Amino acid sequence: MGNKEKAKERRENRLQQIRLLRTIPYSDHQRWWSKETVAVVTGGNRGIGFEICRQLAAHGLTVILTSRDATAGVESIKVLKEDGLDLIYHQLDIEDSSSINQFVKWLQENYGGLDILVNNAGVNFNLGSDNSVENAHKVVKTNYYGTKSMIEAMIPLLKPSTVGAHIVNVSSRLGRLNGRRNRISNVALWEKLSDVESLSEELIDNTLCTFLQQVEDGSWTSGGWPQNYTDYSLSKLAVNAFTRLMARKLSERPVGQKVCINCYCPGWVKTALTGYAGNNSVEEGADSGVWLSLLSDESTTGKFFAERREINF
Ligand SMILES: NC(=O)c1ccc[n+]([C@@H]2O[C@H](COP(=O)([O-])OP(=O)(O)OC[C@H]3O[C@@H](n4cnc5c(N)ncnc54)[C@H](OP(=O)(O)O)[C@@H]3O)[C@@H](O)[C@H]2O)c1
Repeated sequence: MGNKEKAKERRENRLQQIRLLRTIPYSDHQRWWSKETVAVVTGGNRGIGFEICRQLAAHGLTVILTSRDATAGVESIKVLKEDGLDLIYHQLDIEDSSSINQFVKWLQENYGGLDILVNNAGVNFNLGSDNSVENAHKVVKTNYYGTKSMIEAMIPLLKPSTVGAHIVNVSSRLGRLNGRRNRISNVALWEKLSDVESLSEELIDNTLCTFLQQVEDGSWTSGGWPQNYTDYSLSKLAVNAFTRLMARKLSERPVGQKVCINCYCPGWVKTALTGYAGNNSVEEGADSGVWLSLLSDESTTGKFFAERREINF
C-alpha cells in the first residue's frame, strides 16, 4: 500500500471513530453547561459555523448565531427552528469595528456576557491547484485580524466559570509550522514563530505585513512562504500563533477566571469555501469545535486539534 493509500486509510479509521464517539451521549458528570450557558458563533449562517450552532443548541446551550448578512442569518435561524431548535440571532461582521462594538453592547445588556466564543468566520479564494494572492489583503484581514478583534472584544465579557471560559478558533492544518509540506522555509522566522516564549503580536503582525508588502511589489513567490494557498495558509498560521500567545497571556488568571483558548482543523469539508469539494461532511467538520467548546478540563489551552486529537502546530 502506498503512502497516499495509508494516509487515506488512517483518515477513514479516524472518521469512523469520530462517528462512533458522536453517538455516545455526555454523562451528567461531564455536562457542566445548561440553558444559561451562552455560546457565540461567528459566520453561523452556513457551512461549519451553522452546524456548530446546530450541535451546540441541540446540547441545550443558549446559542447566539451571528452573521455579517442579517437576511442570511435570520433565514438560518428559521431553518433551525423547523428542527425544533431555538437560537438567538445578531448581526456581526468581524471586519467591522462598529458592528463588533454594537454586538458587545447588545451582548452585555441582554446576556451579561458569554461562556463560549467560536471564531468560525473565514474566507478563502483559491480552489484546486490555484494559488492566487489577488485577495491576500482580504484573506488576512478576515481570517486573522477579524478573529483577533473578536478575541480582544470578547475577553472582557467572558463569564467566570469553574471549567474555564472557552474560545475555539476554527483554523486549518494548512497553517501548520510543522507540516511536512507547505511550510515557511525561512529558518530564522520559523524558529521564532515556533517558540511560544518568543511569540508576540508584533512578530505575528510583522510577518503578515512583510508578506502583504511582497504581494504589493510582486516579490512574494521568492519570500519562502507556504507554497499552497499561500495567503490562506499564512492567515491560519497567524491564527494558530495568536491562539498560543493568548493562552500564554491568559494563563496567569486565577482559578474561576480561567480561559481555555484552542484551535482546530475541521479537515477538508464540503462547504462553499472549498467549492463543496472535500472528505468530510459539515457534521464531521463541526465535531471537534463542539467537543472543544464543551470540554470540562480547564488545563487544555493553547493547543491545536484535529478529529478530537492534539496535533503539532
Ligand atoms: N471547509 C474546509 O475544508 C475548511 C478547512 C479548514 C478550515 N476551514 C475554516 O472553517 C471556517 C468555516 O468555513 P466553511 O468551510 O464553513 O466556509 P463557508 O461555508 O464559506 O462559511 C464561511 C462563513 O464565514 C462567514 N464570514 C466571512 N467573512 C465574514 C466576516 N467578515 N464577518 C462575519 N462572517 C464572515 C461567511 O459569511 P457569508 O455567508 O456572509 O459569506 C460564512 O458564514 C473558516 O474559518 C475556514 O477557514 C474550513
